[in-house]
Amino acid sequence: MAKQEDKFKKVISHAKEYGYVFPSSEIYDGLSAVYDYAQNGVELKNNIRQYWWKAMVQMHENIVGIDAAILMHPTTWKASGHVDAFNDPLIDNKGSKKRYRADVLIEDHAEKLLQKAQKEINKAAKRFGDSFDEEQFKTTNPRVVGYLQKKDEILARMAKSLENEDLADVKALIEELGIADPLTGSKNWTEVKQFNLMFGTKLGASAESAMDLYLRPETAQGIFVNFLNVQKTGRMKIPFGIAQTGKAFRNEIVARQFIFRMREFEQMEMQFFIKPGTQKEWYEQWKENRLKWHLSLGMGEENYRFHDHDKLAHYADAASDIEFNFPFGFKELEGIHSRTDFDLTQHEEFSGKKLQYFDHEENKSYVPYVVETSIGLDRMFLAVFSNSLQDEELENGTSRTVLKLPAVLAPTKAAILPLVKKDGLPEIARTIMDDLKWNFNVIYDEKDAVGRRYRRQDAAGTPFCITVDHQTIEDSTVTIRDRDTMDQKRVKMTDLRQIIDDKVAIKNWLK
Ligand code: GAP
Repeated sequence: MAKQEDKFKKVISHAKEYGYVFPSSEIYDGLSAVYDYAQNGVELKNNIRQYWWKAMVQMHENIVGIDAAILMHPTTWKASGHVDAFNDPLIDNKGSKKRYRADVLIEDHAEKLLQKAQKEINKAAKRFGDSFDEEQFKTTNPRVVGYLQKKDEILARMAKSLENEDLADVKALIEELGIADPLTGSKNWTEVKQFNLMFGTKLGASAESAMDLYLRPETAQGIFVNFLNVQKTGRMKIPFGIAQTGKAFRNEIVARQFIFRMREFEQMEMQFFIKPGTQKEWYEQWKENRLKWHLSLGMGEENYRFHDHDKLAHYADAASDIEFNFPFGFKELEGIHSRTDFDLTQHEEFSGKKLQYFDHEENKSYVPYVVETSIGLDRMFLAVFSNSLQDEELENGTSRTVLKLPAVLAPTKAAILPLVKKDGLPEIARTIMDDLKWNFNVIYDEKDAVGRRYRRQDAAGTPFCITVDHQTIEDSTVTIRDRDTMDQKRVKMTDLRQIIDDKVAIKNWLK
């Protein structure tokens, strides 16, 4: 646990030191759970957004994008259910005066049971070696069966209590399980209360005529209200999707995990409109498709898992999270939700406008069903950044900190380094830079010994260092150093563009 905490602290400090993420308005001591992306952070974020957009929009003939406004007519949120049901159950600890999400306390307790079961499984796998049958062990070992059963019972009871709005039972469950404040160990809890997460604001100049609005808590509703506009103007045929990326706002109760849970964040969402009755098939297909997208970045298959929901949001008939192994354990990175016809039907009812699709094959109109994929851009940033940050012991006894970002996402693709600041080497380095900058983000660095410059680029996540030396003057070759292997090769200056492109082109990663 301490090791995990240390790693997470290192991620946060590295993100600041290397110009990725700063606390918002830091000179005023920051604003809780709000962050700014710095010079490298904005590039990484743009690259992640682009990697998603190309995969979802450019590579799918039947998916188009939009960019809807953050402010929407307030009835949108009445129709979507957010005014009445976008609540988190919160509980205060009287001892520590800290506020928690009651469901998260219970889920964390259940996760510990899962970890205990996994520990037994790992021990047995070591003991039995190749002959180990994990499935059989899971269903027959009394201790493992006990842990898993208890976990399922707890989650099922919580789901039922939340669905029935039985908040007294949620508190009873916390007490029965002996859940204590994770910071102080105190078990002195208040009642559980519901808390709406939407931020309110006002539109209009005078207090009397001002209209109450909300900052959107999800980008999805901007897609639903535009469904028919896009379908008609784009002559889209079902099945088809509408994608968008943009800011969302939630007044989160527990927001202590850096950019994992923010009050202002960015989502990348896609609503896929389908024929009623085909939702199961599309839900499975999008689960598979999205996992494939994650795996294409090469961050380790073992770092992802699906978590199918017991507790469903008010709009869903099936839902699953893709969880990622963050420095603080497996947590939700993306959600895939089968949203039925809930949203479009609600908007029909509240707006009085028909939101139906005429299916020429079936010769009838219907309200389409929707399967949604929804990923937090900031969470994806944290997944990529934390997974890439590594401390390495080197063969010569020294160590280095290296940010092994997938090259396709790295903010700067190459650093151009003249070996010395004289003999015409800086001028050649500048020529290389002026040529490559049309294709890639590159930087020039001539300060300090070349070894120190390599380390600086390793820590910043730059996949290539190109060094111009005296041989360059004679034969127009340079050395190119790979961040991950630290191998150096002598190559022709004229081959540089192709070498870098092979490593960073989206096509080579997504294919
Ligand atoms: N439209 C569906 C929807 O919004 P969600 O599970 O509430 O579903 C989707 O959110 C994704 O948005 C999450 O999987 C997560 O990656 C991201 N997200 C949600 N709340 C967030 C927050 N407070 N800070 C950062 N990312 C968040």
